[in-house]
Amino acid sequence: MVGKRKAKLELPVVPPPLGAEEAARGAFAADRDLTSHHFVEGEHPIVRIEHLNKTFDGTTQVLRDVNLNVWPGEVVVVLGPSGSGKSTMLRCINLLEIPTAGHILIEDEEITGKGATDVNKLRRDVGMVFQSFNLFPHLTAKENVMIGQTKVLGKSKGEAEKEALIQLEAVGLLDRADYKPAALSGGQQQRVAIARAVAMHPNVILFDEPTSALDPELVRGVLDVMRDLAENSGMTMIIVTHEMGFARDVADRVVFMEDGVVVEQGRPEKVFDHPENQRTAEFLGSIE
Ligand SMILES: Nc1ncnc2c1ncn2[C@@H]1O[C@H](COP(=O)(O)OP(=O)(O)O)[C@@H](O)[C@H]1O
Ligand SMILES: [Mg+2]
Repeated sequence: MVGKRKAKLELPVVPPPLGAEEAARGAFAADRDLTSHHFVEGEHPIVRIEHLNKTFDGTTQVLRDVNLNVWPGEVVVVLGPSGSGKSTMLRCINLLEIPTAGHILIEDEEITGKGATDVNKLRRDVGMVFQSFNLFPHLTAKENVMIGQTKVLGKSKGEAEKEALIQLEAVGLLDRADYKPAALSGGQQQRVAIARAVAMHPNVILFDEPTSALDPELVRGVLDVMRDLAENSGMTMIIVTHEMGFARDVADRVVFMEDGVVVEQGRPEKVFDHPENQRTAEFLGSIE
């Protein structure tokens, strides 16, 4: 390819976002068979992704017209081969990446487009857990869980500490509160990262392959913490993972992505046992 330049892609033209009521009605009609979420009458999706497109460097189209609703309290697991755009989609939801075209709305408020989005507020509302933990190495577990609370939420040290200890206990690490990350296993570090995200009480938590960097024997503890959150916290969770057993047991809905497109979505038993799309079937067949 030396000396050859890829042609710039045309920017996709997408319609404006739907109005809240219309979107909620349409999403309910489209989603009620795709998820085991328990709908409440008149409920609106908490996250709405409409015609999301993302292009890098104007040449590589990574997301192509992705449409997805996520309901309050719903647990959505996103599956798909490496490079299919899963991380990019998650990162668009909290504006770590800026969408090229399309709309993302959180609680019916658009975060994309020209309006002045308050990114700090968005990051409060939408938590994220990364594959690589991203803890501050010079802070203890407890201080890692406190710092967002004091700096972003403006809580007092005392309040933040109380909450940090509650959340560290919930992930089974109360006895490690004063340890620095280097003195913790990868699984323990990831549980601290989850405690840190939950301590902010976000409306939505995004998990990007939270167990992929872990030694196999440490995966279970992290999945158990996530399962507990999914079953008992009522938190809305969007989880990218390759843990098929976890997806089958815990997800309300499974979304299969390939090549920047949502290929198929549905209740886990449907997608795993009776995939409609051949590519879904091949992917699931190849990994289990
Ligand atoms: N910052 C970037 N610049 C250029 N290309 C990128 C960037 N981030 C991701 N990509 C490309 O976008 C595609 C999708 O990546 P990603 O969203 O990370 O996929 P997944 O999480 O499903 O593995 C890949 O081809 C990747 O190389
Ligand atoms: Mg990824």
